[in-house]
Amino acid sequence: MFILGIETSCDETAAAVVQDGRVVLSNVVASQVELHRRYGGVFPEMASRQHMIAITPVIRQALDEAGVEWSDIAAIAVVYGPGLAGSLLVGVNTAKSLAWAKGIPLVGVNHLEAHVYANWLVPPGQDPKDFVPPSFPAVCLVVSGGHTDLILVREHHDYERLGRTTDDAAGEAFDKVARLLGLGYPGGPAIQRAAEEGNSEAFRLPKALRVGPYDFSFSGLKTAVLRLVQELQREQGIPTSKDQKLAEVSLAEEGDKFPLADLAASFQAAVVGALVEKTAKAVEEYGAVQVLLAGGVAANKLLRQEIHRQVKVPVRYPPIRYCTDNAAMVAGAGYYRFLAGERSGWDLDVRPNLPLV
Ligand code: KG4
Ligand code: ZN
Repeated sequence: MFILGIETSCDETAAAVVQDGRVVLSNVVASQVELHRRYGGVFPEMASRQHMIAITPVIRQALDEAGVEWSDIAAIAVVYGPGLAGSLLVGVNTAKSLAWAKGIPLVGVNHLEAHVYANWLVPPGQDPKDFVPPSFPAVCLVVSGGHTDLILVREHHDYERLGRTTDDAAGEAFDKVARLLGLGYPGGPAIQRAAEEGNSEAFRLPKALRVGPYDFSFSGLKTAVLRLVQELQREQGIPTSKDQKLAEVSLAEEGDKFPLADLAASFQAAVVGALVEKTAKAVEEYGAVQVLLAGGVAANKLLRQEIHRQVKVPVRYPPIRYCTDNAAMVAGAGYYRFLAGERSGWDLDVRPNLPLV
């Protein structure tokens, strides 16, 4: 069964065709990263306009690369939230128009659930016959630019949220600290790169574990990095402005005067430390048989490495191209919703704050 997935919740215009929720036949992503880079983050108005320009060719390409016709498509799965309202609208309205015109069922998909179902996609190069899907109950750590949720997945579509961030999402913390260090957007990959040369024990940063047992807090960590940066700047005689804001500092050009790599490594280790510690605790308490990582931050190398080291059950995470926003994961999640009999009506609307649970 072929599902067409459509994703426009943030700054990637994406369409994909997936067979039976697992086999990716095409996965087209038109990224707007270059467009938003100069603003240091996603500019919502520009994002929706860019989706308008890209959506039709991206869908056409997804069908062509998969070698399928409209008549082969069993359902159109589209993300209706969470995300930027103006961006979501482009995907949802396009999906509705196509479903109506072609007489194909429509299935609205939660973007966070799509990230979880990226774990059901057969990695590129692997024979689908050798692929074993995830097992339940699983603890799923959803870590993206907008969300940080620790979720118990008992069965398909049966979720219990164990914890979440009480302030910034993990990806948001990476993005803000990258900006503060002058490393640009998107911050996660930039910090990971800068941290490669650094000593993660150079600075003691708070792990912020004193929130609920499975909750996270990253804003104190971000402020601690800001204070450290200001202190280091004073020591080194690097000019600072009195009311220094996160976005106004640029240190990447300071060279040896500034321990950029050590700071990036220490920050990354603090975030990963908190994520891994709470995930490991949840696995023990809830008797999970697997851990699933999901969302853009699941691309982080240190997170993958540490979670393997500290969690006692098998850990799975999607290949990087399925971790960051894409539509294959949407088609995958849509397939399982479609199998469960779910259909969306023409009144399907965007839900910018839609939670997973
Ligand atoms: O899931 P995603 O592509 O979009 C949202 O749904 O938010 O996640 C984007 C987030 C960004 O904050 C980005 O900095 C972060 O994922 N990210 C990473 C890495 N790659 C992407 N964070 C840490 N390490 C990475 N390698
Ligand atoms: Zn996402």
